[in-house]
Amino acid sequence: MSLLIKNGTVVTASDIYKGDIYIEDGVIKEIGINIIKDADEIIDAKNKYIIPGGVDVHTHLDLDVGIAVANDDFYTGTVAAACGGTTTIIDHMGFGPKGCNLKHQVEVYHGHADGRAVIDYSFHGVIQHVNDDILDEMEEIVEDEGISSFKLYLTYDYMIDDENVLRVLNKLKDLKGITTVHCENHGSIKRLREEYVKSGFKSPIYHPLSRPVESEGEAVNRMINLAAIAKEAPLYIVHLSSALGLDYIKMARERGQKVYSETCPQYLILDESKYSLPNNEGLKYIISPPLREKKNGEALWMGINEGYIQTIATDHCPFAFNKEKQMGKDDFTKCPNGAPGIEERIPLIFSEGVMKNRISINKFVDVCCTKPAKIFGLYPKKGTIQVGSDADIVIIDPDKEVTITNSKLHSNVDYSAYEGIKVKGYPILTISRGEIIVRDNKFVGKKGRGKFIKRGKSDWDNIL
Ligand code: URP
Ligand code: ZN
Ligand code: ZN
Repeated sequence: MSLLIKNGTVVTASDIYKGDIYIEDGVIKEIGINIIKDADEIIDAKNKYIIPGGVDVHTHLDLDVGIAVANDDFYTGTVAAACGGTTTIIDHMGFGPKGCNLKHQVEVYHGHADGRAVIDYSFHGVIQHVNDDILDEMEEIVEDEGISSFKLYLTYDYMIDDENVLRVLNKLKDLKGITTVHCENHGSIKRLREEYVKSGFKSPIYHPLSRPVESEGEAVNRMINLAAIAKEAPLYIVHLSSALGLDYIKMARERGQKVYSETCPQYLILDESKYSLPNNEGLKYIISPPLREKKNGEALWMGINEGYIQTIATDHCPFAFNKEKQMGKDDFTKCPNGAPGIEERIPLIFSEGVMKNRISINKFVDVCCTKPAKIFGLYPKKGTIQVGSDADIVIIDPDKEVTITNSKLHSNVDYSAYEGIKVKGYPILTISRGEIIVRDNKFVGKKGRGKFIKRGKSDWDNIL
């Protein structure tokens, strides 16, 4: 199978140029001006941007949170991803049964994804408890399975205490892997939630009020200091939502610490006014950390521009508004946390970021494709357009205007968190390993074609 993409504007994290791309056997074989070759299909990309396929390093497919299971499996979730211009995901494993070992969840997740995923994928391991056996197993999983990142939580049922956080940081540093962390201060959130519920304040607005920016800031700062104590272990902060958290990250990076951070479209584009929507629609936005006051989003865009935030991922975690989310209708603490967004990421960041001149088109590619691939050991197979890389390519029509509406999206859920937002610029073709899998918003690939990618180690000294 061969493809020739002609006359487009190729964009990478560092360059932008007019050129043709020749693809054969799933990889990029040649890039040049006016390539003349026979190909199974010739695609005219005149007046279009050609970007590397999106890399979304924070999704939750098949997530079982005990009280509910997220609605996208590895088929529906990856079809939605592909339709939105994403060609690789790294999914965060959910917690397994209490006391289970790490391999338990690795097997469960291979079972979920194998035969279903339509784009390439990997997993982040999850740490529920720490002991010598778990640390030994981490080594096996990094070395044998190619899963070189693990998430730990500073809140929820399986929160990890400081001593064990240090053990994980040290171990992953030795293994040349990376610790990813959900940073929220557990004690303050627990206390505020209890106080609000006791006083009868149970509507969705009490969700953000019980998880203030200081709860995130404290946990971010604690993790940064623990990473320094762990002999400068690399650290990746997931779903950063606040200017305060960003301030601590800025200080750490100015000191030269290897601290990377991720934010998500919801924290850049939406704000906490959503919690006061009529008909309890605020339930749609019960996510943790919560949406913030608008000024936080502005600070996060600046943080991206200044290089303090390296990635934009989705934290896609779809619970239906008319079903699972209603568990919180009388008490926000009973609502499963999470919102969909896997399909909207690339169009939203292109439109709100590039078209509105908040970020350059190179920065857009960097944070949505290249840096995520570099940080998590997928580069240069994924995340860029160069000879030898997988032919994961997305063509964006910058003139295509779309009003986001759930009925046109592919996720198996009944709402979009971005309903009604008008975007300018939309992916019109998605290519995964040289195969066209989406044409004009229609998935045309095969179920189960996605491959598990064993990730390599990252070279922290060369990832800014
Ligand atoms: O509310 C969220 N973000 N749910 C997904 C789990 C997590 O903490 O990332
Ligand atoms: Zn989290
Ligand atoms: Zn998450």
